[in-house]
Amino acid sequence: MPNSILRLENLRKKFGGVVAVDDLNLVFNKGEVTALIGPNGAGKTTVFNLITGFVKPTAGTILFKDIRLNHKKPHAIAALGIGRTFQNVQVFSNMTVLENVMVGRHLRSRNGMLMSAFLPPMLRREENRIRASAQERLVLLGLDRYAHLPAGSLPLGNQRMLEIARALALEPTLLFLDEPASGLNARETMAMGELIHKIKSMNITVILVEHDMELVMDISDRVAVINFGRLIAQGTPKEVQLNPDVINAYLGT
Ligand SMILES: Nc1ncnc2c1ncn2[C@@H]1O[C@H](COP(=O)(O)OP(=O)(O)O)[C@@H](O)[C@H]1O
Ligand SMILES: [Mg+2]
Repeated sequence: MPNSILRLENLRKKFGGVVAVDDLNLVFNKGEVTALIGPNGAGKTTVFNLITGFVKPTAGTILFKDIRLNHKKPHAIAALGIGRTFQNVQVFSNMTVLENVMVGRHLRSRNGMLMSAFLPPMLRREENRIRASAQERLVLLGLDRYAHLPAGSLPLGNQRMLEIARALALEPTLLFLDEPASGLNARETMAMGELIHKIKSMNITVILVEHDMELVMDISDRVAVINFGRLIAQGTPKEVQLNPDVINAYLGT
């Protein structure tokens, strides 16, 4: 398929006796926003963890373009331009907002940030470039006025935005967002929707897990529904909404 960027082929993950992901076959299209939805415990986060290298598949294949991701480590996968956020927001609370974004960029550069005080001029210039581009990300997300505050002092909505800014600093082509609107109020959720639109317009392919169906239906080009680790439906938001298997999975009939 010429337009695909990521393919999951017979992907399977067992945790002891629990089959979290069960022979999943799924293709994600380049440039689209795809929502992965399903009841709690359906295996959505595990799919994200498999693709981004945080857990290893029991069987099956993960193909990013033509690259097999199966046995790659998270940092190697990130370096390919695959970014992510976490269901439980993970920012470095005691570091400033700006430093949090710089950490994302450093995933792609040769030297670690902590050494920066001892850097020779050439690397110091690299450090300055990273700082400038981190600052640009903050402007893009409307977080620049908080640049020098500790990340932990921001409200949850801004912390989720910051986590996305950090992921964007990696200049990803593919971005995974695990429940980006979880815990956000209506206004923050609307801002998150607008941000995801903006990210799509930057030619970044977005795959998200989200429970807020209004948001999902608003921002997604395609929706894939999983239940007990298996794909039960996929299609446009409208198609999926009307699918009886999906209605059953959610209402438990
Ligand atoms: N690291 C893990 N160890 C053991 N079981 C896990 C682990 N991660 C997830 N699971 C189990 O796998 C299943 C799917 O979980 P998860 O992927 O978090 O679902 P979702 O994100 O759809 O709510 C659940 O039964 C969960 O308890
Ligand atoms: Mg989850």
